[in-house]
Amino acid sequence: MHEKFIPVANPKLRFVEKKNEFLKVAESVIESGMYILGNEVSSFEKEFAEYIGVKYCVGVANGTDALAIALKGLGVKDGDEVITVSHSAVATVAAIEMTGAVPVLADIEPDTRCIDPEKIIKLISSKTKVIIPVHIYGQPARIKEIIAIARSNGLKVLEDCAQAHGAKVDNKMVGSFGDAAAFSFYPTKNLGAIGDGGAVVTNSFDVFENVLALRQYGWHQRYVSDLPGVNSRLDELQAAFLRIKLKDLDKDNSRRNEIAEKYSLVMHKLDLEPPKKIPSTYHVYHLYVIESEKRDTLAKYLNSKGIGTALHYPLPIHLQPAYKGRIRGGQSLHKTELLYTRILSLPMYPELSDAQVSTVIDSIKGWN
Ligand SMILES: Cc1ncc(COP(=O)(O)O)c(C=O)c1O
Repeated sequence: MHEKFIPVANPKLRFVEKKNEFLKVAESVIESGMYILGNEVSSFEKEFAEYIGVKYCVGVANGTDALAIALKGLGVKDGDEVITVSHSAVATVAAIEMTGAVPVLADIEPDTRCIDPEKIIKLISSKTKVIIPVHIYGQPARIKEIIAIARSNGLKVLEDCAQAHGAKVDNKMVGSFGDAAAFSFYPTKNLGAIGDGGAVVTNSFDVFENVLALRQYGWHQRYVSDLPGVNSRLDELQAAFLRIKLKDLDKDNSRRNEIAEKYSLVMHKLDLEPPKKIPSTYHVYHLYVIESEKRDTLAKYLNSKGIGTALHYPLPIHLQPAYKGRIRGGQSLHKTELLYTRILSLPMYPELSDAQVSTVIDSIKGWN
C-alpha cells in the first residue's frame, strides 16, 4: 500500500485521538456492573432524541434492526407493501423482508439521488403501508413532498437516516419529519460506534412503546411478552462511546461541508459532476460522491496516487443476486441504473487534514 494512503473513511483516527476519554467511560461501565440497558443507553437515548428534536429514541443493535423494528412498531404486517429505493445499502430492503412485508422499488431523482416523489404515487396500491425515503450519502430526500403524499394516501413514513445524522431540511433535522426514523451507528457513519449500533426515533408515544417492547422479547414488563419481539439492544459500552462522539457531531458535519466545498470547486473544470446543491437542505456528506462516465479510469488513477475511492454501491439492490427479478418496481429504475455506473466516492471524514484535501484535489487536477 502507498505510504501515505488516504482512505475513503478512517474511523480509527477519532478513537485513537480520544482514546483516554473512551477508556475512562469504558472503565466506568465496567465498574457500574450494569451491562445491559443501563444509564449509558438511557442517557444516550435522551441526548440523541434532543439532538434530533423528537420526543423518543430507542437504542437497538444496528441500523438494519432499527428499520425492521420501526416498521413493526408502525404496525406493518405480513404481506403489507413498503415503498423504497434500490439505490441504497441492501439493508433497507433486507429490513423490509425481515418483517414479512414486501418491498416495492421506486426510481430516484438525479439531483438528490434520493426517491423521486412522483414515482412513489404510481406505485401505491391497496397494500401499501409505509414509504421509506433514504437520505442517501447525507443528502436529505424531498421529505416534505413525501410526507404530503403519505398523508393524502393514509400511509406512514419511516426515514432511513443511516447516512444522515444531523442533515436538515429548512433547518429541521431529518429523522424528525416522518412517523419514525432509523439510524445506524456503524463505525464509519457520521456518528459511529466501535462496533454495531442503531436507534429508532419517533414523536409518537404508541410507536415508541411498541419499539421499546419489540427490541427486548416484546416485553412491556419484564418476563411478560405482549408481542413477538427480538433481542436487539444497544450495547451499554457503545452507548457510552456514542455519547462522547455526539458532542462533536455538528463540528464534524461542518468540517465535512468545508471539505466538500473545496472538492466541488475543482470538479466542474474537469467534467466531473459534484453532488448538486439543493436549496434549503443541509447535506452532511456521509459520502462525497461524484459522477463521471470515466469513473473507472479515474478510480484507477487516484488509487495509483495513494488515494482511496469506493463505489456506493457497485450494484443497486434490485440487481443483486438475492433480489434480481423478483421485486416489484425493479423493471423501471432507469435513473437508478444509470447512476450506479457513474458514481465514485472520494475520501471524506472530518479528520482529513487540509494537506490531505489538497493532495486529493491536486491529484484530480492532474488527471487527463
Ligand atoms: C442507508 C442505510 N440503511 C441501513 C443501513 C444498515 O445499518 P447497519 O449496517 O447498522 O445495520 C445502512 C448501513 O450500512 C445504510 O447505509
